[in-house]
Amino acid sequence: MPDALKLLTTRRSFKAVELSGPGPSAAEIDTLLTIASRVPDHGKLTPWRFIVFEGDARRVAGEAIAAAFAAKYPDAKPDHVEAERGRLQRAPLVIAVVSRAAPHVKIPEWEQVLSAGAAAMSLVLAAHALGYGANWITEWYAYDRGVLDALGLKSHERIAGFVHIGRPPGPPEDRPRPPLNEIATRFTA
Ligand SMILES: Cc1cc2nc3c(=O)[nH]c(=O)nc-3n(C[C@H](O)[C@H](O)[C@H](O)COP(=O)(O)O)c2cc1C
Repeated sequence: MPDALKLLTTRRSFKAVELSGPGPSAAEIDTLLTIASRVPDHGKLTPWRFIVFEGDARRVAGEAIAAAFAAKYPDAKPDHVEAERGRLQRAPLVIAVVSRAAPHVKIPEWEQVLSAGAAAMSLVLAAHALGYGANWITEWYAYDRGVLDALGLKSHERIAGFVHIGRPPGPPEDRPRPPLNEIATRFTA
């Protein structure tokens, strides 16, 4: 099987906690972002952007997550708040894919959102191609306004995903995939 097809047929998510360091180098991160930004984009609007979290910046962002959590659940146990603080420290690299979809005279917002999804998917595949594992997750804090403000998102921007990237523990166990006869039909006249 050609390498590219093998790559596409073997991709699988890892849990964020399974992804260890060292993470991608600066040059590899550039490669990841370059590939992620090479996606179909109706109207060439670039309706997405990326935020890279590495090193201590993951802890600083985690402070905002913990603060939002503690505000939402004032009776939460300190251990739980601490776990929330560590959300972005599970993997050595986290890249947030931010959707910048907005009303446009010609291009439906839906298509701009889809383009952000494509960017996240390309990012995941590029990580796999470089030999890293990835996990595309959102979790509760992707939808918390306080967290989004702290991360610098404008009011119309949304998190398409926090893509966690690191070294996988080994080959992943696959999960059953949907049988093609259940998800694909042939249109007939
Ligand atoms: C937009 C989006 C958000 C996701 N958010 C989460 C999440 O918050 N938590 C989670 O466990 N999986 C989440 N997933 C699913 C995982 O990325 C992954 O697809 C799932 O674990 C199945 O593994 P697979 O990619 O190998 O099929 C999300 C997927 C997408 C597309």
